[in-house]
Formats: sequence, structure tokens, C-alpha cells
Amino acid sequence: MPLPYSEKVLEHFMHPRNIGRLEDPDATATMGNPACGDMIKIYLKVDGQEKRITDIKFESYGCASNIATGSIVTELAKGKTLEEAKKIGWKEADAELGGLPPVKVHCAVLAVDALHMAIENYEHQHGLLKEKVPTDEKVVLKRLKHVINPKTGREILQANLVKAVAVDSGRVRVELALPPDYQFAKALEEEIRERLEPLWDVEQVEVAFVGES
Ligand code: FES
Repeated sequence: MPLPYSEKVLEHFMHPRNIGRLEDPDATATMGNPACGDMIKIYLKVDGQEKRITDIKFESYGCASNIATGSIVTELAKGKTLEEAKKIGWKEADAELGGLPPVKVHCAVLAVDALHMAIENYEHQHGLLKEKVPTDEKVVLKRLKHVINPKTGREILQANLVKAVAVDSGRVRVELALPPDYQFAKALEEEIRERLEPLWDVEQVEVAFVGES
């Protein structure tokens, strides 16, 4: 039986555009998918004057649809202004690919969410926010949504791995109920930092592993 993918999905899966990482990116975002535990990371280069995406790449830890949608979403975003790129939605990505099987639509949502978060991170870092919400515990928890534990494929929030969050004068401390020698401690710390460090009023992020081995 042939794979239930359009020719365009298969073509982008076999020959993905913009795959890899950018050295010295202006913004990044990693997004995990609670439906399947897959992840995607987006790298952006932005022309600060024109607020235009001059280069974009992605790395995928996901399925064929995730790779194909990462490819098409980065194609759609390249050369667009940030405001234009914000309007790219999963339906557009899905239509461009000739329609994903319904069970795979969340893969397109994942790629688009990562793009939007990378743009949001850029805006935080470059004074472009329309509304500057001070970072508090609620903001931190919102930003940690869809951070996936690579070992289990589950969200750290849903798995109750976030034991405590403290915010004080630009310093954020996140305690995880995992031991310091946890196999994916470094990856989790990096991802949490990537989520929190871009916030406009955050100066320091500490991730503490307070579980027992
Ligand atoms: Fe996980 Fe597609 S099944 S991103």
C-alpha cells in the first residue's frame, strides 16, 4: 500500500529545505508535541531594520510530516516580515503540502507553533512587544508549556516534574523533580533556558535538579 501522503509531502520529506542549524541565530525556539512527544527547533536570522526574516532553518526530532511541515513552513517564512510570518498558520502549511492525513495535522501545528515562538522570542529581545507583561510564576509556567522530557515524550508540566518556580528581580529559578545526573538533564536545562532567557525582563535563569537519584 502506498503511504497516505501527497506527493508534495513526500518530496519535502525526502528533500527537506532549510534543514540544519544556523550559527549565531537572532532567535530560536524548540517546541514539543504532547500528542506524540516529537520536537522541532527553529532558528531565525532577522534584518533588524526591516524586521524581515532573512534566513531560517529547522531541526526535527519528529516524523515525516514534521519534517515536511518544517520544510514548508520555513519556505513560507523566509523573506517575510515578522508581522507577515506571524500570520502563517497550520492550515496554510497543510494546504501548501496538498493536505496531510487528519491524524498528522498536529505535526503541522507543531512546526507553526515553533515558528511563532521563535518570532515571539525575537520580539522579547528587541523591544518589539506591544505589551510588556512582567514575568511572574504564571508567565514562566505558560512558557514551559510543551517542554517535553525526551526520555518519556511527556510534557514536564503534565508529568508534575516542575516542583517549584521562583521569580525575583529578573532572576528565575525552576526546580525539577529529577536527579542532577538524569540522562537528559542537560537537554532539559537548555530547553528551559531557551524558553525563559529571551523574556524581556529576565536576566538570569537557574534550573535546579532536586530529585533523588
Ligand atoms: Fe509527532 Fe508528527 S507524529 S510530529
